[in-house]
Amino acid sequence: MNVRTSDRFTTAEAAEIYGLDNWGNGYLAISDTGNLLVTPTRERARAIDVPEVVANLRRRGIQTPVLLRFPQLLEAQTRGLTQAFGNAIREFGYPGRYAPVFPIKVNHHRGVASELLQSGWRDNLGIEVGSRPELLAAMSMPAAPDSILICNGYKDADYLSTAALAARLGRRVIVVLEKPFELDPYLELARESTVVPYVGMRFKLQARGSGMWEKSGGFASKFGLTTLQLIRAVERLQEAGLADRIALLHFHIGSQITEIRRVKNAIREAARVYAKIRKMGVGLHYMDVGGGLGVDYDGSKTSSDASVNYTVQEYANDIVFGIHEVCEEEHVPAPTIVSESGRHLTAYHSILVGDVRAVISGIEPAPPALRGDEPQVIDDLHELSRTISVKNYREAYHDALEYRDNLFSMFGLGLVSLHDRAIGETLFWEIAGKALQFSKTAKFFADEFAELEQRLHDKYIVNFSVFQSLPDHWALDQLFPVMPIHRLHERPAGRATLVDITCDSDGEVDKFVDLKDIKDALEVHDLRPGEPYYLGFLLIGAYQDTMGDVHNLFGRVHEAEVLLDPEGKTVIRNVRRGDQSRHMLAHFGHTEDKLIEEIQAQLRERAARGELSSSDAGVLLEEYRERLAHYTYLS
Ligand SMILES: Cc1ncc(COP(=O)(O)O)c(C=O)c1O
Repeated sequence: MNVRTSDRFTTAEAAEIYGLDNWGNGYLAISDTGNLLVTPTRERARAIDVPEVVANLRRRGIQTPVLLRFPQLLEAQTRGLTQAFGNAIREFGYPGRYAPVFPIKVNHHRGVASELLQSGWRDNLGIEVGSRPELLAAMSMPAAPDSILICNGYKDADYLSTAALAARLGRRVIVVLEKPFELDPYLELARESTVVPYVGMRFKLQARGSGMWEKSGGFASKFGLTTLQLIRAVERLQEAGLADRIALLHFHIGSQITEIRRVKNAIREAARVYAKIRKMGVGLHYMDVGGGLGVDYDGSKTSSDASVNYTVQEYANDIVFGIHEVCEEEHVPAPTIVSESGRHLTAYHSILVGDVRAVISGIEPAPPALRGDEPQVIDDLHELSRTISVKNYREAYHDALEYRDNLFSMFGLGLVSLHDRAIGETLFWEIAGKALQFSKTAKFFADEFAELEQRLHDKYIVNFSVFQSLPDHWALDQLFPVMPIHRLHERPAGRATLVDITCDSDGEVDKFVDLKDIKDALEVHDLRPGEPYYLGFLLIGAYQDTMGDVHNLFGRVHEAEVLLDPEGKTVIRNVRRGDQSRHMLAHFGHTEDKLIEEIQAQLRERAARGELSSSDAGVLLEEYRERLAHYTYLS
């Protein structure tokens, strides 16, 4: 989308440019003063002003980058999901119930899981874990008495006995067999224990998901029992007198399923498997449809990777209807339907705010003046920059490319000075910029100019790390909405791509959500001296918190929870400072003690050589010690 050129600019235009009404799920708005608002109840009158929160935190010494969590959005998403299933159960007269489960791997933050467990208490929201450490966390969290605790992931004897411990603590634990060899340790545990966790079975469906995580389903997937393995597991459990422990059938065809058709196919297949197992005389109580309920990151409501072509209500309807239909046909009791929706519950709840530090411009604003005695190649470039027009821009650009190559060859041979190289380079980019402008008036925008445009965008340097805060953008090219959190009543001055402060060229964001396409640059405002400019990275509450990586030792950012009190006033709580340099260094063996000791030794040596007085040495040591306690990001 191009930035419009009419004089007046409205916040409605800003909303259109950034698309927040399409992907914000009703939780976002723009104030008349151009600030981004979070509206947990979807009422504009009850809003949290994001820039005001950032300013408030700044006054308390909490700088950007800062991650703002909005717990009320977790609550709203939980309510939306349980209501959708409730509606479907009523509409289709489904005789069973629905029990949501939060897969804790999607966000390990204790506050997130606690908020979800509390919000979903009445609907028996449970937890799904995929490892022993996750299980230890889940066991400790108060959950509704009838909720279930599902144990997925690779299970050794230690994991299984920890699950048994959770059962002894009174939790309704279901250990899901994902691989055939997990059965023997489970049978052994059952023989040895008085309290045995329930057992579930993950089945390898033929049906597959769609989108980036499609490989999680289907016959070749890493997890799940084949039909024969499933039958044998049931028979062995029956032989061991554990038929009454078999509680759940599980499948998961991948996260962020973009097409509803895939969900319908999977449900039909899984419900049939459920019915057949019931007919083997097993009292399976739960049917767990896994995760996969997607988030419309680009707001396009399509089956593109960044979107979903269905609503949460349609998702719930298709699951409830599909299971109901098969159970009626097969004359088996309807199971309690479990879903492990993590992304849908958590994605919306957090926003990372980073400040733009500087701009790297594609075109030099102040080219050096010509002296008059430059080499011919500079004169040629200068002539092109004067004569390029809408009629000859393509040819002129191609000539400029050739002259630039000649310039570099001559420089390599020592025939051109550094100063002349600078003039030549500057002229080349000036010609390229003009050619790009002219190319936009043509009927067809040639590929070479699309590539040139990408290279000529300004780059805004944002105080954050893509590796820490947007790992899925780096690893999987996943798109997340990005927008300024203020000045939204001002027309953006241009477009830019974003680079982070790591020393890695991968640390950049050069793909942005758009309703019809993927944008290669973001509309941004110009930077004003002495005034911060903040960008928000949105919908990052699922997976990004925990998959983040400590590249360049930047580590965790500052965090705060932000909510509205009953009077509609903004409350900031649970402010948690991000990592200091000493924390990050200690992870890799550079413990604070060791670092101080080494610096002390260096200072002693210098003092012994008479290069330093002992008081100067003391000052240097203190300064070093103090710097270890600084926030890792730019201050
Ligand atoms: C077994 C299982 N359950 C649940 C989930 C969560 O999926 P989602 O975040 O798409 O809801 C995953 C993630 O891929 C998973 O592997």
